[in-house]
Amino acid sequence: MSSETREQWQSRRGFLLAAVGSAVGLGDIWRFPYVVGENGGGAFLLVYLLVVLVIGVPLLLGEFALGRRMQSESATAVARLVPASRWRHAGLIGVIAAGLILAYYAVIAGWVFKYAALYLGASPQLLAQEGHAALFQAYVARPLEPLAWQLLGMALTTAVIAKGVEKGIERLSVWLMPLLALLLVGLAVHSATLPGFGRGLAFLFQPDWAMLARPDLYLAALGQTFFSIGLAMGVMVTYGSYQPATRPLPGAAVAISLADTLFGVIAGLVIFPAVFSFGLDPAQGSSLTFAVLPQVFAQLPGGRLVGALFFLLLSIAALTSMVSLLEVTVAYAMQRWRWSRPRASLCLGGLLFLLGMPASLGFGAWAGLPLPGGHTILDAMDFFAVELLLPLNGVLLAVLLGWLWPRHEAMEAADLHARRLGRLWHFSLRYLVPVLVLTVLAGSVYRT
Ligand code: TRP
Repeated sequence: MSSETREQWQSRRGFLLAAVGSAVGLGDIWRFPYVVGENGGGAFLLVYLLVVLVIGVPLLLGEFALGRRMQSESATAVARLVPASRWRHAGLIGVIAAGLILAYYAVIAGWVFKYAALYLGASPQLLAQEGHAALFQAYVARPLEPLAWQLLGMALTTAVIAKGVEKGIERLSVWLMPLLALLLVGLAVHSATLPGFGRGLAFLFQPDWAMLARPDLYLAALGQTFFSIGLAMGVMVTYGSYQPATRPLPGAAVAISLADTLFGVIAGLVIFPAVFSFGLDPAQGSSLTFAVLPQVFAQLPGGRLVGALFFLLLSIAALTSMVSLLEVTVAYAMQRWRWSRPRASLCLGGLLFLLGMPASLGFGAWAGLPLPGGHTILDAMDFFAVELLLPLNGVLLAVLLGWLWPRHEAMEAADLHARRLGRLWHFSLRYLVPVLVLTVLAGSVYRT
């Protein structure tokens, strides 16, 4: 598609909400609270905030600038940055990784939809007091039903993407993101009335300094930053390419990163007080949302309504993020292979559903597969994508942006020109991001 006919966001608000919609997802509400829980609470939060400011914001701005300047989807944008070098194929990693993340993300989204339906339709016996962890385990082990919900999620995502940037992504985000914020704030207010609110606050905000000695904490903070903002997978390059040159980018990058962090923190404020109110353990890993929270909702007065709202919230958050991941691959197929949007949406949506099937079956039919460390297939995909591909691709991107893009051009593309802020931004891309990310990665590889 030539740049004259390239699709565009209709309004600045549409762009912001679409980007926040991509950023705010399962990463904030399902992943962030359990990662905080596993890493000891407050100390992790502090490191996380630092990583967002020093690494997250500069990379996000870099991605927007690259996409908007090159007016093309993410792999082509990288290729146009370094047309004559071997690095021109590097952008492909992001496109592939976006597809990989979407494939297993849809499995978790499927669980979320199922739980939303459960609370909205309410089969009372399922929501009873006891055995929520067992219920969850039995559910994910079923052969067909989780696949059906996963398929529904992919079908919705495909339908939105087939409609295009403005009529699909932008319209969806403009409607759903305010609703999402409203739901989350409402739940947080409710959470403030619970007896465990004080302990939840303390857990989230009181740093335990001893935790800072653990190298895992830094890798976790890094992985969470990339995943939560949605960096290094081409999403923000692609979204930036639909943004007209007349609208400045730096403010948007800061606002989006902070909004994403705020959503995560508020999600923590919803979850931890509830968990502590019933004497449960916040460090139960990825099952926090599905095994622990239903136990909370069962004991809470009005818990069924709270549960319904919570899983509705999570469904919305998941959908807008899935949309952004599919768009990366669809934009690639449209530009590189000249596929029409409907065809690209349908083919890639279908293909990525198939790729996600093993992640779902890994909890049931294929649970016996011998994976290292007793991990599930979904865990393995998540680890590979989030703790390896994301940081590696982040370094690659920072090197491309910081070293191979002439500095004045990069600063101009980012609307920073030669201001001091521009130099800081460039310094971060050039030195801070590569050095910090590589150090953390090396540290974790060395230990294992
Ligand atoms: N940021 C989303 C979340 O928090 C997930 C997501 C969307 C993502 N796009 C991404 C993760 C790109 C990594 C890369 O759930």
